[in-house]
Amino acid sequence: MIVGKPLLTTREIQEKVKELAGRISMDYAGKELLAVGILKGACMFFSDLVRSVEVPLTIDFIVASSYVKMDTSGEVRIHYDIREEMSDKHVLLIEDIVDTGITLNQIRERVLARGPKSLRICTFLDKKERRVVDVPLDYIGFEIPNMFVVGYGLDCDNKFRNLPYISVFRKKT
Ligand code: IMP
Repeated sequence: MIVGKPLLTTREIQEKVKELAGRISMDYAGKELLAVGILKGACMFFSDLVRSVEVPLTIDFIVASSYVKMDTSGEVRIHYDIREEMSDKHVLLIEDIVDTGITLNQIRERVLARGPKSLRICTFLDKKERRVVDVPLDYIGFEIPNMFVVGYGLDCDNKFRNLPYISVFRKKT
């Protein structure tokens, strides 16, 4: 297995997080915001982002899985669901990467069924060319080509999440 040089450096990531947090702070000024991180992948992005958002907010998480090693299984499993009441809140779902869109689409429908005041989605990475299901994305960090990446929360077989940058990952041939 090979982890290559950074596709996105720590500095580029930090700058993008600040930019997204600035937009979110403006858009949610005066509103009751519930920030929901989709785990495990969004753990680093979520914690950096919410610490840079300058409006009061509450947080919760949803733990979902669909990937087995480097491929999607197409079947989304929910291991922990959002516990916060959301009918009086504006919900912002925070995801690490949107690939086929299957995971996010199912989570989005689950949240909408609980009647939040509004729902927006923020993703750190967007692998647009792999999309199978159309999901509306309100805040996108970086659009990346169809390659498997690790670091900054993203994994392969639960490894490499602690890299402080995004790197392209490929199997040794
Ligand atoms: P989707 O349902 O196909 O959109 O897959 C979304 C989930 O698959 C993400 O939340 C990640 O956990 C995982 N995933 C997709 N692409 C990658 C990648 O390049 N690296 C690591 N995980 C990925």
